[in-house]
Amino acid sequence: MTKDDDMNRIFSGIQPSGHLTLGNYLGAIKNWGALQNTHECLFCIVDLHAMTVPQDPQALRQATREVAASFIAAGINPQKSALFVQSHVSGHSELAWILGCFTPLGWLNRMTQFKDKAGKNREHACLGLYAYPVLMAADVLLYKATHVPVGEDQKQHLELARDIAGAFNRHFGVDYFPLPEPLIQGPAPRVMSLRDGTKKMSKSDPSDFSRIHLLDDADSIVLKIRKAKTDPEPLPAEIKDLEHRPEARNLVTIYGALAHKSPQDVLKEFAGASFSIFKPALTEIIVSVLGPIRTETLKLLQDPLMIDACLKEGKERACGLSEKNLSEVHKLVGFLAA
Ligand code: TRP
Repeated sequence: MTKDDDMNRIFSGIQPSGHLTLGNYLGAIKNWGALQNTHECLFCIVDLHAMTVPQDPQALRQATREVAASFIAAGINPQKSALFVQSHVSGHSELAWILGCFTPLGWLNRMTQFKDKAGKNREHACLGLYAYPVLMAADVLLYKATHVPVGEDQKQHLELARDIAGAFNRHFGVDYFPLPEPLIQGPAPRVMSLRDGTKKMSKSDPSDFSRIHLLDDADSIVLKIRKAKTDPEPLPAEIKDLEHRPEARNLVTIYGALAHKSPQDVLKEFAGASFSIFKPALTEIIVSVLGPIRTETLKLLQDPLMIDACLKEGKERACGLSEKNLSEVHKLVGFLAA
């Protein structure tokens, strides 16, 4: 596919809440780096989404730069792709308002993420948390993105973005917004918590031992893998025998993703090995992949002005598209030209 091809535009976003994890790297960032060779890509640090839960302003600022630095260190080329901050392009909020006027409450009430996050305390949950999926739809539709790499947990939100795009198009009798498709890429493994193999590895889990951060040094990685939950059995020869061993399966999956091997091939190599053999091998490969990314990220963070300059360039590119599309939307809905 060629660049500047409106038929093929990728948008994805990541929240600057907390430090990025190995899960973010293997599940998203690593693949994004590959996509930019074949597609026009926009990668957005979604700070407006992050503030749907309380954030410390200083920490938010730091996390935003840190995410940008880690992206660049992990292979996102800001010359190729637009790497930018959501709040820098006001079109996101503006389109979210407009799209919100085409989103029935019934659709939002179905969103499982809202139900999980609001819990029993629904009356106290903020409007932002409820409207979160509308903002996400706006992120994607603002650029008329056609493909969105998302994890399993965001599929329902992307489905909603398609529904909202369809509702808008039907209302005005146009074929304006493309219906964005989820992009399921090759082996993008779901990396689970190191403490509980049935839960996703998450930036926001209270336990630091549940995850590996992209900025963890070798000593912390050694410790976290040593402490990672397992079971007393040695590794089996067949992947199906890991079905009821979520923690073991997770570690095998992580090893495979880092070694560019299928989990089955990892078992070929380690069948019969105990965790006292497998864990050091796993630690070694994690350190060998994350070490250089960490070094590069820390180097970039020494020069925050350079990071800000990259983000400004990304903002300008994003604004070019966003302004054009928003003015078309204004026309469609009947706003008077300014
Ligand atoms: N909601 C996504 C997440 O938490 C982040 C996100 C915001 C996003 N806007 C997006 C992802 C647009 C893809 C496309 O993971």
